[in-house]
Amino acid sequence: VSTHSERSAQDAAKNPPAAGYITEIPYPIVYHRDLNPSLSTLALNHRGFSGPARGGAYSCVELGSAWGLSSLIHAAGNPAGHFIAVDFNADCIAAGRSIAADADLKNVEFVQADFATFATQPMPAFDMIFAHGVWTWVNDATRSQIIDVVSRHLKPGGLFYVSYNALPGNALAQSLRRLMRVGFNAATGPLSAKVEAGVTTAANVKTAGSAFFGNNPAIAQTFDHVIKTAPRDYLSHEYFNPDWHPFHHAEVAEALKRADLDFACSAHIIDHLDGVQLSPAARAQLAGATDVVARETLHDFFFNALFRRDLFTRGSSVAHPMRDQLMATRFVAGASVESFPRLVAHTMLGEIRPPAESGRAVLGALAAGPASATGLAQHAACAKFSPEHVLEALAFLAALGAIEPALPSEGEATRRDATARLNAAIAMRSMTGHAIDALASPITGGGVMVSRFDQAFLLAAKRGIDPIAFAATMKNAAQDAQIRQAYDRFERYTSPFLARLGIV
Ligand SMILES: C[S@@+](CC[C@H](N)C(=O)[O-])C[C@H]1O[C@@H](n2cnc3c(N)ncnc32)[C@H](O)[C@@H]1O
Repeated sequence: VSTHSERSAQDAAKNPPAAGYITEIPYPIVYHRDLNPSLSTLALNHRGFSGPARGGAYSCVELGSAWGLSSLIHAAGNPAGHFIAVDFNADCIAAGRSIAADADLKNVEFVQADFATFATQPMPAFDMIFAHGVWTWVNDATRSQIIDVVSRHLKPGGLFYVSYNALPGNALAQSLRRLMRVGFNAATGPLSAKVEAGVTTAANVKTAGSAFFGNNPAIAQTFDHVIKTAPRDYLSHEYFNPDWHPFHHAEVAEALKRADLDFACSAHIIDHLDGVQLSPAARAQLAGATDVVARETLHDFFFNALFRRDLFTRGSSVAHPMRDQLMATRFVAGASVESFPRLVAHTMLGEIRPPAESGRAVLGALAAGPASATGLAQHAACAKFSPEHVLEALAFLAALGAIEPALPSEGEATRRDATARLNAAIAMRSMTGHAIDALASPITGGGVMVSRFDQAFLLAAKRGIDPIAFAATMKNAAQDAQIRQAYDRFERYTSPFLARLGIV
């Protein structure tokens, strides 16, 4: 394995990495919940497909991982699995490797390579390949290399996750980007100045009165409220990369046929539930779709889809009833029952909330600890709901991130050790340098957002030292009074929540 990484590093050194891709402004360090294999299994089961057995010895590759935070977290949370993060950005790969070394994680590998090189490396086939936030931001040749990786290195029956900016939701943004590129291309100086010039050009066109903004109020609003106010590191990568290509689902499905892939379902469970927002006429049209691509296309026009997270499978995309698997799935509550009124997701057609009665009852029952759908259906608090209603409530709560599927209890002690080591390594970095805002849970095998203050309090508790004094030693620490307030919130709300997830 290390020979392979070294070889890739040599190749990358020969061909300057990141050609045509922004490196001047580092990509933010972000955890992606949808890349948790356990969540892929839930999404697949929910749509009637079988998925990887939770906590199993599966191998997962993250293509274009940047810092690889998701791979690190999933490696710590799934010690039986093997995780490989691939990116041609040397700084990101070095940072990921150093966190893995500090946490003594042996089951995560960071490979500095471009996809073309990675595709040609001899290696055993993988169970899952993830490409999050890459497909839209690279050119045709690179997309083709991604397909080569999947063609050559995905096992039969394996899973490919690909996310991309979707059409029709990005049709106008495509034109707005073209406009912003005018200012960007004309400017000189550092990338940040060019990005600012791009935004200013579009702002000036809008202020001077343009039919593009005037006739398209939705893009005018996006520009004013999303783009102008966005953090510039995110904006640079989102819109100012040399490549930015939104796609219809049909185009992606067509391209992936070359790797023998069939679309299974969205990895984002909220997409499985948004049908409740459709009119009966729209639902009838979806139900009458002649094939999967037609159905997804109709869906995307009903919702004006902006972003898709698609799960493709290789050769096993026939749906079967998965009720037994779903009933046996154990869930753990991340959110408290008091937070129930605040559980909401927004789609292009409005709000989605969990069913009021069954949702609250299920979340309340989970406050006592992880339980399976079967267990919940027999719980006194859920007595008046059928197992189908319990499953429905669970799907909504999982879609909103209020609950997570739990891994089997076997192996929990090993997971606790590995996640504790990774969480300490992350917390040390958050205290002394760039904050990383997620930690790993040994219960879910996935990550959870935790602020740098809360990370300092957790570390202090592990070391048995004064949390407030310790938090005050972190880089750019706040005033004492603010730290005290943060500690008060931590003790009251965050600590019990993190305890449920095995992080405290
Ligand atoms: C928009 S970032 C997404 C990062 C991460 N997946 C996320 O969503 O947070 C795209 C990543 O793909 C990497 N990348 C782009 N083209 C690549 C190529 N041909 N080979 C390897 N990595 C590439 C970039 O360096 C960058 O880190």
